[in-house]
Amino acid sequence: MRKIIIANWKMNPASPQEARRLFNSVQKITRKLRGAEVVIMPPFVYLPLFNPSRAIKLGAQDVSFKSFPAGAGAYTGEISARMLKMLGVSYVLMGHSERREYFGETDKIIGEKLNAAVSQGLKAVLCVGEKEKVKEAFPQIVKSELKAALTNLPRRYAARIIIAYEPVWAISTTKGAKPDTPGNFFEMSIFIRRVILDIWGKAAALKIPILYGGSVTSKNAKGFLEVNGTQGLLVGGASLRAEEFSKILDFAKRS
Ligand code: PGA
Repeated sequence: MRKIIIANWKMNPASPQEARRLFNSVQKITRKLRGAEVVIMPPFVYLPLFNPSRAIKLGAQDVSFKSFPAGAGAYTGEISARMLKMLGVSYVLMGHSERREYFGETDKIIGEKLNAAVSQGLKAVLCVGEKEKVKEAFPQIVKSELKAALTNLPRRYAARIIIAYEPVWAISTTKGAKPDTPGNFFEMSIFIRRVILDIWGKAAALKIPILYGGSVTSKNAKGFLEVNGTQGLLVGGASLRAEEFSKILDFAKRS
């Protein structure tokens, strides 16, 4: 299966010129890439600058939960799933810890965003992960985030869901952040599949792609990509450095 490598640019870079430069350099690398699906998630305002291709897909970092029924309406500041599709977007990120923490996103809102995205045919990348590195607490938090987001979603949408296990303590901008270990990620990915099995049954649990995110660099990417059953990576800071990101893609191609 092709690996999925997602570049979460967050609120970067500062200008459209820099965004274009970064996108162009990723495009150059991906031309030679066969074994991976690369998804660039720029800020909304840069989306119209780029055309998705076979090699690079476009993703959005958010979507309105008020995307129904018409994909338009009196919701100041919001952007609907349908609007994103018109810009060539095929993936949407949701449940990211920064949105949970700084913008008050609750499990209920995340569940509604998931529904908005997948019912419009978009692929939803759902981030789950615990805040503190207290090992006994990991599974319960991840389980409750998964259950809250997925339980009310019809099973027919399972094929449009991707899970990103991203422990908050491992995100590079968290104070004292350190990446997780491939061993722990392996355990968590098995746990995540078990929770999905409870919700949607075996077929969905085996098929759902699970990605790792949190301080991914060219130094540790290979280790995470080699974890049995991993489908890829969610990359933040390192995706803003073209050379670093190209090294990560190179591992994806070979793994
Ligand atoms: P990071 O960010 O790779 O800089 O840790 C990942 C993310 O927050 O999605």
